[in-house]
Amino acid sequence: MLKKIKNLNKKLSKININSASELEIFRIKYLGKKGILNSFFKEFKYINNYEKQNIGLSLNTFKKNIKNIFLYYKNFFLKKKNINNNIEDLTKPGNKKYLGSRHPISIIKNRIINIFNKIGFKICEGPEIEDDWYNFTALNFPYNHPAREMQDTFFIKKSSKLLRTHTSSVQIRYLEKNKPPIRIISPGRVYRNENISSYSHCMFHQIEGLYLDKKVSFKDLKNTINFFIKNFFGKSITRLRPSYFPFTEPSAELDILWNNKWLEIIGCGMVDPIVLKNVNIDPDLYSGFAFGMGIERISLMIYHLNDIRFFFENDLRFLEQFKKEF
Ligand code: PHE
Repeated sequence: MLKKIKNLNKKLSKININSASELEIFRIKYLGKKGILNSFFKEFKYINNYEKQNIGLSLNTFKKNIKNIFLYYKNFFLKKKNINNNIEDLTKPGNKKYLGSRHPISIIKNRIINIFNKIGFKICEGPEIEDDWYNFTALNFPYNHPAREMQDTFFIKKSSKLLRTHTSSVQIRYLEKNKPPIRIISPGRVYRNENISSYSHCMFHQIEGLYLDKKVSFKDLKNTINFFIKNFFGKSITRLRPSYFPFTEPSAELDILWNNKWLEIIGCGMVDPIVLKNVNIDPDLYSGFAFGMGIERISLMIYHLNDIRFFFENDLRFLEQFKKEF
């Protein structure tokens, strides 16, 4: 038996298995029920004690040898099979990559920003959580102004903080830290405690503009806004209507004629001297104008929509329609 094992080991050292079916033949021949290994173990039982230790040792090494060869080729053919499977079907559809699109509010916001960038307005952003000074007091809101009441503003419990009700707060933040000439626009989210309906929401977006320099007049305000309207809407009919804001004097509202209706789209006015004093800028030396517009309102017009809630429901059927724009 020792001799047989020795010969087989020699044979195994030169073995070359070329396919999975050859491996199966190998398995049956050596490891099968009636295979060589089992027949050796059967024979082993009848070997006398004197020889058992010696033969047992080489029988075990032989067994290990066969198992190693078998496992090696088994792994080899398995890997090969996997690789083949992967490249086998070249017509298989690829893994779908989902490409998103820009949100309509961002599309309109960027268009507005681009127009003002052309005439030197730089972007400046401010925080959405504000305090009374930046949102109201510095902007000359009287102490008892209704916007300060709970029904309009979200106050943060047990603190003097609130969610800003307009982007005009960024005017003050910027004016406190910068000297004229100033030309900024600030886009961002604002919050008001309003019922959600097709035309109003408790959260929406505004773009604020501020221009401050020596000898800035109402004519500059009018020209700047007209430049924007022309570039954004093309030829259109607009009107400036007197209005009131605590932080501008005089104040006006710009309406645009849209589908035979006047729509109010921009609030504006000359920066009130009291506001300039609040931020330590001399109102006798400097003057300026400010304006603010709601991005949702304009987006509804451009996309012919009749419900502001579309913008915030994240319905892919709605959002995917803006894929071609950016
Ligand atoms: N902050 C005003 C609003 O939210 C808009 C505005 C901005 C008006 C700047 C005048 C000047 O309605």
